[in-house]
Amino acid sequence: MKRVVADVEKPVRSNASAEDRLLDVSRRNLLMGVGAAAIMSGQVTSAAAQMGAPPAGYGAAGIGQGMGHLNEMFPTTYDPAYIQNAVMAFVRTNLYAAQRPFLPMIDETLSKENALPFDLWGMLYDDWGPNPEEGLTVFLQGLEKRGPDNRRKRIYISALTPDLYRSMYAEKVARFFDRLLDENNAGKPLMKYYLDNYFDLFWDLHVGVQGEAVPSEVRQIGESFNTVLGYRDPLLGIVYENYMKVRALRTPLKKWIEERVQDVVHGRVKDPEKTFVYYWIKNGGGGSDFRNRDVVFESFHNFVALSQWGNTIYNIMLKLEKTTGDPDVKAWFKRTMEGDYDNARGAPFTPLQRLVMELFRVISPNGGSISSLQQLGMREPERHGYAITPHLAASTDPRHWENPLEFDPRRYKGVPASDEVGEEKAKAIGFAKCPFEKASFPVKDGRKADMTNSAFGTVFGVVDGKAQPVCDYAGFAPFGFGYRRCPGELLTIAVFEDFLKKVWAEKIEFQKLDLPNPARLPVGPTTVIDDNIGFVRRT
Ligand code: HEM
Repeated sequence: MKRVVADVEKPVRSNASAEDRLLDVSRRNLLMGVGAAAIMSGQVTSAAAQMGAPPAGYGAAGIGQGMGHLNEMFPTTYDPAYIQNAVMAFVRTNLYAAQRPFLPMIDETLSKENALPFDLWGMLYDDWGPNPEEGLTVFLQGLEKRGPDNRRKRIYISALTPDLYRSMYAEKVARFFDRLLDENNAGKPLMKYYLDNYFDLFWDLHVGVQGEAVPSEVRQIGESFNTVLGYRDPLLGIVYENYMKVRALRTPLKKWIEERVQDVVHGRVKDPEKTFVYYWIKNGGGGSDFRNRDVVFESFHNFVALSQWGNTIYNIMLKLEKTTGDPDVKAWFKRTMEGDYDNARGAPFTPLQRLVMELFRVISPNGGSISSLQQLGMREPERHGYAITPHLAASTDPRHWENPLEFDPRRYKGVPASDEVGEEKAKAIGFAKCPFEKASFPVKDGRKADMTNSAFGTVFGVVDGKAQPVCDYAGFAPFGFGYRRCPGELLTIAVFEDFLKKVWAEKIEFQKLDLPNPARLPVGPTTVIDDNIGFVRRT
């Protein structure tokens, strides 16, 4: 069988046909079965997206047979450790559909502990498996390990509250959108510019540096990380190359982040209080629930979290697109922006927040919450099983909404916000006691702020006596559920509010570009798109 040598100098953003060079089609079909082969052609869409999990349906046909021979089928140039720990782990991974939740909670039996598809551990740790000594992320921790009352989560979210967004981070985000929607970029495929500038924003938010202060290796590892997540299939040459680049560059990256964290701690960076790290350090207090090495780890693990902005922005542009966009979304955008869009009138969410929430509900850039499963009986110890609690299905469940398939931001007027979900509500639902007792974590960063929780375990801030709740309802699923719900939700919603405000204020119109060969770009987990949307400013 002909072996193909991986060309490590090949640029990351190649198109699908380039990576086909590395494994010929017949061999890939043999390996993965006919059903899975379609997914491997690069047509991976957000429909199957979730935080780094393989696309649903992957590994269905044919994989169980002939497993012992798989090793012989890979290019000899592939690192054997990669084949064993990434490729073989991938084909031994099974995903199982979990229920659509009735309440916005996932029981702890479906655990967050090490809930990462096994083949991805090599991206995070040297030894291809979890090693808490090297650093931890709350994202991969069971509730029981997070300290009292989900402490690690409370510390994490203390850096991302809406008050901080407006006073500390919004100007960085605005700079990013100014660069993205600069007149020089008009009429050109936009996601390239998005990705070109994205790591400036990423590192500016985390440690307060951008531009030349971000070394090329640091940009490269971020790009490689996103490429692996986007293409996701370890058999592809583009994934192999980038996976190995992540492994080669991770130690220098961590050293670089450690130094930047020290710059923040010692005030050697401009406006240290305008970084996430500042609040993690202050509120972690060097304790075991958020050690300094965890600050470093969380910063680079956020490659996963923030990468979802790319997928989201692309899909929002598609929905607003001048001729092929969604007429209902466009009508609601106009109606919202012509009104008093920032005025909540006593409701938990403003009209613009409701619009963004509805965009997230229908786009659902994160396809499902992923949980590790407890194994009862051990027949095949080498198999890895994960349950996926589906987001789009939950968000469009007719048991939660009268009009689940309509685009209607008004739906959030009548649903509970997390500060309204306390003991009384729990009892009214039928619980004997609150599933999650209320607890408070007062921050130590100088603000008058508590990180508290709803009866469903959802953590949210109360700053200067004002609650910052989220829509705590099982029919609003894009950011997950309960104690493990996304701490970046309100910050993300604010980012997209600012994006839409700019689009409206500057009369920006998105247009599909008629390009014969648009670049294929990884813009989020399991999402590789054609870079074919541009913009113009209406006069
Ligand atoms: C488009 C943007 C985003 C989407 C759609 C999203 C979605 C989600 C979802 C669905 C979960 C729950 C996963 C699960 O339970 O298995 C989650 C968790 C998480 N997200 Fe996000 N996220 C986004 C942005 C962010 C940002 C900007 C940050 C940080 C700055 C962030 C940090 C996290 C963390 C740390 C967790 C783990 C929480 C826990 O386990 O307690 N995310 N996210």
